[in-house]
Amino acid sequence: MENDLDFVTAQLAEAGFIAARDEAEELLECSHDDDNVLASMIERRMRGEPLAWITGSATFCGVKIRVEHGVYVPRWQSEGLARLAVSRLPERGTAIDLCTGSGAIAATLLTHRPNARVVASDLDERAVACATSNGVEVYGGDLFTPLPHELFGEVDVVVGVVPYVPTPSLSFLPRDTFIFESRTSYDGGPDGLNILRRVVRESPRFLRSGGCLLVELGGEQAELLRRELTRFRFIDVKLLTDDDGDVRGLEATLSA
Ligand SMILES: C[S@@+](CC[C@H](N)C(=O)[O-])C[C@H]1O[C@@H](n2cnc3c(N)ncnc32)[C@H](O)[C@@H]1O
Repeated sequence: MENDLDFVTAQLAEAGFIAARDEAEELLECSHDDDNVLASMIERRMRGEPLAWITGSATFCGVKIRVEHGVYVPRWQSEGLARLAVSRLPERGTAIDLCTGSGAIAATLLTHRPNARVVASDLDERAVACATSNGVEVYGGDLFTPLPHELFGEVDVVVGVVPYVPTPSLSFLPRDTFIFESRTSYDGGPDGLNILRRVVRESPRFLRSGGCLLVELGGEQAELLRRELTRFRFIDVKLLTDDDGDVRGLEATLSA
């Protein structure tokens, strides 16, 4: 087994995979000692297919999430936002996870707040099926449109990793992204804010006073959203930064 691990690690490392040993361990575990299965998995990985699609899962905030083929793979960079969402969600509170994908953020909320109500939405049928398999109450459709109206004014947290890449920047994403992942997961329109602006405008209908909006974004987008946030009664706007000091998200509270 150790020989197999060294061999697969060496193959992946030679192909440029940074976390070669961790990936090799996952692939070996999922191949259940079947050499043909292992060879096919390695070949798929070498072609650039996301590891989570090959193994069928990813770990997000310490929670194992099923990730079906074709569904956006949750990124560790979104874990800080998810943890913040947990901290803003009361034990028996209510949260909405917009554009849920595999349901990773919603599942994280439910893990830490099992008595809360967490609902989610996504346009993509594969994502809806995947999030459902992760135990999430998910509705198929555009942003807030499919969500139950009984939640109007009741929600403590609206969180979303929605598409926010400006269309002109899509070509700078890693080469494999659009071979395997859908443009719908990334494309936020000319300045990346098409969907984020709608989230700012539409979330006050669902949020209670004092409820919190948490979204992932980048660059100057938070500044570009400021006027919109004020117009739609958001206060206490805080920028969320990563270890390098780069803006990664935004937190805002709905005023009374
Ligand atoms: C960047 S992925 C994020 C997935 C998940 N939140 C995560 O962090 O793993 C964006 C997701 O938004 C969905 N999506 C794109 N536009 C949408 C819309 N208008 N309404 C609902 N979902 C949408 C895509 O199908 C995709 O699953």
